[in-house]
Amino acid sequence: MRTEQWYKDKVFYQIWPRSFKDGNGDGMGDLYGVYEKLDYIKSLGCDGIWFSPLYPSPGVDCGYDISDYMDIAEEFGGMEAFKKVLDGAHARDMKVIMDLVVNHTSTEHEWFKKSRERIEPYTDYYIWRPAKPNGKLPNNWDSLFEGKAWQWDEVRQEYYMHLFAIEQADLNMDNPLVREEVKKVLRFWLDMGVDGFREDVITFISKKEGLPDDYIMPASKGFNYFNHGPHLHEYLEEFHRDVFSKYDCMTLAEAPMVTPKVALKYIDETNAPVLDMMIQFATQEADCMFTDFVHMPFNLRKLKKAYSDWQNGLEGKGWNMLYIENHDHPRMVSRYGSEKFREASAKMLAVSYMFLKGTPFVYQGQEIGMSNWYPSDPEMYEDVQTLWQYHNVGTKKSPEKRLERLWHGSRDSARTPVQWDSTENAGFSTMTPWFYVNDNYKEVNVAMQEQDADSVLNFYRKVIKLRKELSCVRHGNYTEYNKSSSKLYVYAREDEKQKILVVCSYSEAMEEFKAPAGFDLRKAELILNNYDGAATSVLKPYETRVYLWQK
Ligand code: GLC
Ligand code: CA
Repeated sequence: MRTEQWYKDKVFYQIWPRSFKDGNGDGMGDLYGVYEKLDYIKSLGCDGIWFSPLYPSPGVDCGYDISDYMDIAEEFGGMEAFKKVLDGAHARDMKVIMDLVVNHTSTEHEWFKKSRERIEPYTDYYIWRPAKPNGKLPNNWDSLFEGKAWQWDEVRQEYYMHLFAIEQADLNMDNPLVREEVKKVLRFWLDMGVDGFREDVITFISKKEGLPDDYIMPASKGFNYFNHGPHLHEYLEEFHRDVFSKYDCMTLAEAPMVTPKVALKYIDETNAPVLDMMIQFATQEADCMFTDFVHMPFNLRKLKKAYSDWQNGLEGKGWNMLYIENHDHPRMVSRYGSEKFREASAKMLAVSYMFLKGTPFVYQGQEIGMSNWYPSDPEMYEDVQTLWQYHNVGTKKSPEKRLERLWHGSRDSARTPVQWDSTENAGFSTMTPWFYVNDNYKEVNVAMQEQDADSVLNFYRKVIKLRKELSCVRHGNYTEYNKSSSKLYVYAREDEKQKILVVCSYSEAMEEFKAPAGFDLRKAELILNNYDGAATSVLKPYETRVYLWQK
C-alpha cells in the first residue's frame, strides 16, 4: 500500500543502459557502470532512476524486445549486479523504476516459441490470424517500425501481429492467462524492491474487436483501433487492483497521441485512478508531426500551447510527468535550442520545463547539453526504425536529403555513449564502444563541466536544487504570459508564500522583454539566469531568467 505520493517530490534520471557507462570494458554499457555513477546521479539532485529495459533480449529494438521478463541480461551484469544497484540506490534514498514492455515480447521469448507450435496454454498468447482466402493480410494495419503489422509464420502457418519490429510480437492481452503472466512479472520485481514501472506503449494493449480494416487514417493505419482500445481501462484497473494497489509503488504510462482529457480517464486522483502519470508526446511535436521523421520548422507557439494545455488540463486532478528528452527523440539542444548557442540554450531548456508542475525526468547526457550525432553514412545507424525509414521512405530523394532526414529524425541521435571525459571513447569504455561516440566529446563532457562553475552540468544542479526548495514549484498554480510571442515562453507559478516568473527566450537574436502587469521586477530577486551581468530589458540569445517574490 502506498501511504504518500512520494513520486511528486522526485526528480528522475533516465538510464538507457547500453550507452550510459561500461564498467567491465567490453564496449557495452552495464550495471557495473551504473553502480560507479550512483553518486554522480545523486549529485545532480536526482533521487529516482528509470531504467530502460535491462532484461535478456536479442536486441533487435535495443532491449524493447524482451525474451525473459524475470531476469537481467548477462551483458548488463545479470541479477547480482542489478541487486547491488538497487540496494545502492535505496541506500542513497533514490527510487528505481523499471520499464514494463508488455504490449509485445521478442519472438525469441519462450511463450512465442510455444505459441507458434500451438503448445498449450500458449496457443492464444499472441494475436494470430490465418491469411484471408485471397491470400491477403488479415487487415490493413501498419506497424510503427517496419511495414505492415503482420508477419507470416512458417511453423504455425498463420500471421502474427507486430505493431513494432517484426521480432516484436504483440501479446493477446484479451487472454486472461496473459494478464496473469503480466501480474506475475509485476509482483516479481515489486517483491524484489523496485519502486514502480514506466509502462511501454501501454495504451496499445487492447485492440478493437474483430481487428477491422482502417479506412480513416491515411498513414499509420489501425492506430485508432489499437490506441486506447476498448478494454484498456479495464486491464489497467485489473493490474492496479490486483497488484499495484498492494505495493508502495508508482506507475507511469507511455501514451502517444493522448490529450489531457483522455489522460484523466486514467490518472484523475479524484476519481479512482488506475495510473499515476502519463507520458504525453505533445511537447515533442513542436518541430515534427507524430514522428520525428516528419520534420518541420520549430514552432514555439505550438510548444507553449502543449505545455499550457497539460498544466491547465490536469490542474487539481492529475499530475504531470515532465521531460524534454528520452531515448526515442533526437537531442533538444539540436531541436528547440541551438548548437551555435549550445550552453545557453541547454540551460534555457532546463529552466523551460523544470519549473512546471509535475515530476521531471532528465535523460542521460541531457545534463551536459549533449547534442545530435551526424554520421556521414546511413549504414552507421543501428536503430531498426531508422534503417527501415531509410530503405523505404523518400528513396527517390538525393542521398544528402535522405541522410539529413535521418539526422533530424533518428532516435540514434540521442543514443550515442555518454561523454564522461576527453580521453579515448569519451571515457565511456576502455574498449571500442558498441556504438559511435559523438565527435564533440572533447568539448562536451562531464569531467570538464565538473571543473566549471558555469557549466550546463552545474546549472542543472542549481535548477534541480531550486525546484526542490521553492514551494510554489511543487504546489503553486500556473499562468502563462506573452502567449502570442513566437520567441519567448513566459510563465508564473504562485502559492500562498511566493511567486516566480520564468522567462525563456528561444531566439538567436536579442529580444525585448517587458514583465507582465503585476510583476514589479524592482521588488523581485533574480534567483537564476544563464548570462553574467545585469538583467536588462533585452534578452540575449537563449537567455533565461527566474525571478522570485516572497510574500
Ligand atoms: C516505446 C519505447 C521505444 C520502443 C517502442 C517499442 O515507444 O520507448 O524505445 O522502441 O516502445 O517497444
Ligand atoms: Ca560492459
